[in-house]
Amino acid sequence: MRILGIETSCDETGLAIYDSECGLLAHVLHSQTDMHAEYGGVVPELASRDHIRRLTPLLKKILKQAELELADIDGVAYTSGPGLLGALLTGASYGRALAWSLGIPAIAVHHMEGHLLAPMLEKPAPEFPFLALLVSGGHTLLVEVDAIGRYRRLGESVDDAAGEAFDKTAQLLGLPYPGGPALAKLAEKGNPTRYRFPRPMTDRPGLDFSFSGLKTFALYTVNNEPRDDQTRADIARAFEDAVVDVMVIKCRRALEQTGLQRIVIAGGVGANQRLRAALKEMAEKRGARLFYPRIEFCTDNGAMIAYAGYVRMQHQSPGDLQIRAQARWGVDELVPPA
Ligand code: KG4
Ligand code: ZN
Repeated sequence: MRILGIETSCDETGLAIYDSECGLLAHVLHSQTDMHAEYGGVVPELASRDHIRRLTPLLKKILKQAELELADIDGVAYTSGPGLLGALLTGASYGRALAWSLGIPAIAVHHMEGHLLAPMLEKPAPEFPFLALLVSGGHTLLVEVDAIGRYRRLGESVDDAAGEAFDKTAQLLGLPYPGGPALAKLAEKGNPTRYRFPRPMTDRPGLDFSFSGLKTFALYTVNNEPRDDQTRADIARAFEDAVVDVMVIKCRRALEQTGLQRIVIAGGVGANQRLRAALKEMAEKRGARLFYPRIEFCTDNGAMIAYAGYVRMQHQSPGDLQIRAQARWGVDELVPPA
């Protein structure tokens, strides 16, 4: 069984083909970051229009890469939500129409389930149950994962998502969009002892996060300190250390509460090297193990959608011909494939 995955929830057009026998056959991606950079963030209408322009050329490219014909595809998985509604609609209509024209099933995939299952594309893949830290531009979630579709939300951000906080702080430091990777790079040259940012919501019980205060703290620090390169790097480092520390504290707490022995990190912020290293150290100290996808599958991609679609399609009936796109959709609303 070969599944074509289509991701268009935000500013990346990603396609991939997953084969039940051989695993991932090919994946292609077009990132719109250069297009949105001049506006300092994603412009939804431009995102949708660009997805429409890219989908057919990317489909041709991936078929060539995988040395396959359209007739070799057995099913289509498309990102159905959450995300930007217009952007979601492009991939959803394209995927649904393609499947209809080929007489094959199409399945609507939850973007965060895609992120959550992305580490399954690696070897060794984590076994169920595990704790998942999902950290992207739009979400910060701690989830207890018992099986496919059995997700219990343990905690989430009460305000900004972790990636959003990275992006906004990066903007304050004069870095280009998307800020996360740029801030992490600047932080490499930073002195970790010059500034200390607060660790929000760690001094009280619970597994929720808050990042908007860190952004405000960064704003005051930037405004009250000199503007030289070393100061900017020192602020970036202090911000990154605070985010990483908060996540390690909450993940440790979640492992304690649940008794789980495996932890998965996924989503764009999961590409952060300092976060990966700190979580690995914490997990190993507790005799637990950390799993994560390769860097390119941390940020949005088609491979995670093809895989999640494949997993669900094995057990789920194809359903009707509806084009499904929903901007808001909680990961704990999902149910196991029937
Ligand atoms: O998962 P993703 O590609 O898109 C969403 O579903 O939101 O995540 C994008 C987010 C952006 O906020 C970006 O700045 C952040 O992930 N990000 C990083 C790094 N790479 C990407 N944040 C911190 N460190 C990184 N290395
Ligand atoms: Zn994402």
